[in-house]
Amino acid sequence: MKTFNEYLEIVNKEIKAIPYPQTPSNLYEPISYTMALGGKRIRPVLVLMACDAVGGDVQQALKAAVGLELFHNFTLLHDDVMDNADVRRGQATVHRRWNSNVAILSGDTMLTMASQYMCQVPTEHLAAVNELFHATAIEVYEGQQYDMDYEHRREVSVEEYINMIRLKTSVLLGCACKLGAIIGGADEKTAQAFYEVGENLGIGFQLQDDVLDVWGDEATFGKEIGGDIMNNKKTYLMVNAFKLANEEQAGRLRRWYTDSYAMKQEKVPAVTRIYEELGLREIADKAIEEYTQKALSVLETIELSAEAHESFGALAASLVKRNK
Ligand code: IPE
Ligand code: IPE
Ligand code: MG
Ligand code: MG
Ligand code: MG
Repeated sequence: MKTFNEYLEIVNKEIKAIPYPQTPSNLYEPISYTMALGGKRIRPVLVLMACDAVGGDVQQALKAAVGLELFHNFTLLHDDVMDNADVRRGQATVHRRWNSNVAILSGDTMLTMASQYMCQVPTEHLAAVNELFHATAIEVYEGQQYDMDYEHRREVSVEEYINMIRLKTSVLLGCACKLGAIIGGADEKTAQAFYEVGENLGIGFQLQDDVLDVWGDEATFGKEIGGDIMNNKKTYLMVNAFKLANEEQAGRLRRWYTDSYAMKQEKVPAVTRIYEELGLREIADKAIEEYTQKALSVLETIELSAEAHESFGALAASLVKRNK
């Protein structure tokens, strides 16, 4: 097994080598701009790690890993339009730097490029890889639709919220782990266990994203703090706030929630205060810990080298503490 940074280097080298035509520049420049901004590359690294862990050849999984990162970045271009977000990875979002039409079409192109890369796996694995990738992609769109539907629904249960983030975020991490295992030659049971490891890590990952959207440091996180509050997103914090608030707190929450003219400088600190009164950061941290433990307990059931167990354990621990 290699270190996270060693896998990252392999992935980044391959991403750098993606060829982009010169024209039309308004189609391709936003793609190279986005891919060059980096990000954590957690999904492609998971592909390579899982492949390595089951004794596969990492090189055989590299194109699929890049394909998954292209897919992830496509979802970000469209997500930033849907969430009206100005900043991503510390830079202007594509729809702000260019416009929404550009974000839509460059995003579409990235999705197709993702498919092209995804097909570049050993033929024996092509059918399984294609089926998993496409089923996962549709689940992500379902999750994104729930995410938007819930902006306009006052009552969302914790179960509905967890299912929404399972779809919009965690299935892609599950897919990353399972892809790596499949290409590495694992049997179906092992590949499925890897999926569950990624899926549980992914739920923790999105919970942490919700937390960082409130308490993160803007420069480190690379996104604007308070975007979820301004969009009335049903995050883990918002859903639990409605559940746990007393009458007075619920009144305050409802007032901010329904005030469509509220200023960001007022609404974000006011809602954050309610979250803090209710101890929601600690409640979220506990949930993150629980889902990460669940991932690790599934990992325990897979027969792997001590080194492989250690690598995944270290990655899980670093995700729990992440601040970007
Ligand atoms: C952002 O994903 C979208 C979520 C699922 C929270 P990442 O946090 O992996 O974003 P990058 O790729 O590192 O920028
Ligand atoms: C991420 O949800 C889900 C997808 C991009 C598919 P968010 O909307 O929370 O992601 P960020 O915070 O903008 O990265
Ligand atoms: Mg979103
Ligand atoms: Mg968003
Ligand atoms: Mg977010």
